[in-house]
Amino acid sequence: MKIAIIGGNGQLGCDLVQAFTANGDQVIPLTHSNLEIASLDSASRALPPLQPQVIVNTAAMHHVENCEREPERAFAVNALGAKNLALVARDLGCVLIHFSTDYVFDGSKMCPYVEEDVPRPLNVYGVTKLAGEHFVRGSLEKHFVVRTSALYGKSPCRAKGGLSFVELILKLAKERPEVRVVASEVVSPTYTAELARQIVALSCSNAFGLYHATAEGSCSWYDFAREIFALTNTKVSLQVAGPNEFPAKVPRPSYSVLENRGLKRLGLNLLRPWRDGLRNYLGITGACQAAVTP
Ligand SMILES: NC(=O)c1ccc[n+]([C@@H]2O[C@H](COP(=O)([O-])OP(=O)(O)OC[C@H]3O[C@@H](n4cnc5c(N)ncnc54)[C@H](OP(=O)(O)O)[C@@H]3O)[C@@H](O)[C@H]2O)c1
Repeated sequence: MKIAIIGGNGQLGCDLVQAFTANGDQVIPLTHSNLEIASLDSASRALPPLQPQVIVNTAAMHHVENCEREPERAFAVNALGAKNLALVARDLGCVLIHFSTDYVFDGSKMCPYVEEDVPRPLNVYGVTKLAGEHFVRGSLEKHFVVRTSALYGKSPCRAKGGLSFVELILKLAKERPEVRVVASEVVSPTYTAELARQIVALSCSNAFGLYHATAEGSCSWYDFAREIFALTNTKVSLQVAGPNEFPAKVPRPSYSVLENRGLKRLGLNLLRPWRDGLRNYLGITGACQAAVTP
């Protein structure tokens, strides 16, 4: 199939390019210099000449503080951008795979969210991503809207700049005698290469709809750091950060774990426990045992 990947140089986009290429698809990576999704005109000029059968959209404004500061721009990219791509995909008769976020939930459920749960975003980022989901689901039948969470990959996240959580925490361990990490946010850290393989498998079905796709299980950022240090044999003092040490400038869900219920129903859930994904990222092979038991 011919697949146009928007945000093809981003954290997830790079792995999607690799995974679809490995699947034998003809992949066209597109960057921000090729199109601006917030503009229907730009999307309508860039995509039709390529005649894709599938458009994959990883582009988003997802720096949470920037979204809060610039809500109009966040809505233009995350909501109207998604709508623009859905309209172009509908005109071309092609499938749209669009990424959304665990931040559409408020975190109060305290057990994994399934696709049927009612979203209640706490911040502008979550509100605008939820609006994007509605635009896609309301305007295009052939869609996959995929909510994911806490991504890390070999290519850095462009919106957040610099290093992934894994690389940042390893860098801090080299520079400081003690590393302090919050334990107050519980997530499912998801390796983008594993998510990308999941997306390829899902794209081969025609079971269009809304899906959760994250690594299995959950942990706090502190637990994640502990596992990173254990697996890399990094000797550093790791402490739980106090409640006011890194005050959140924007409200975020304290628990945003998703269950891949839709994928499991289809018998298509390839995503493994987060520890296995981390071992894969770190290049550790062999039988997986918990290096640290929380
Ligand atoms: N990162 C996470 O932890 C996380 C968690 C849950 C959900 N998600 C979702 O997963 C998706 C991918 O995230 P990621 O971490 O791979 O992001 P990323 O590394 O920041 O990549 C996003 C890509 O989209 C491009 N882009 C941004 N705005 C654009 C626009 N208006 N028009 C066209 N291209 C634009 C960026 O190019 P430039 O950098 O050149 O602007 C970049 O290539 C996003 O939809 C995000 O909401 C991410």
